[in-house]
Amino acid sequence: MNEKAQIKVMDNGSLRVTGDVELVDKEGNVYETKKAFSLCRCGQSSNKPFCDGTHKKIGFEDQSRVE
Ligand code: FES
Repeated sequence: MNEKAQIKVMDNGSLRVTGDVELVDKEGNVYETKKAFSLCRCGQSSNKPFCDGTHKKIGFEDQSRVE
């Protein structure tokens, strides 16, 4: 049985993706990914859609919680 996919909203950073998931572009082309990977949500990565750590340099802030 495959591990259920999970997307974790990291404090002041990326979206951490784990589990059985396929990442595709608008045309359905599949990105090569590792077992766990991070997606950019600050909009400043040079390697979109992946996080490249730039959020730390720019001081991106968000600590979203379920309300
Ligand atoms: S969230 Fe990490 S570079 Fe954008």
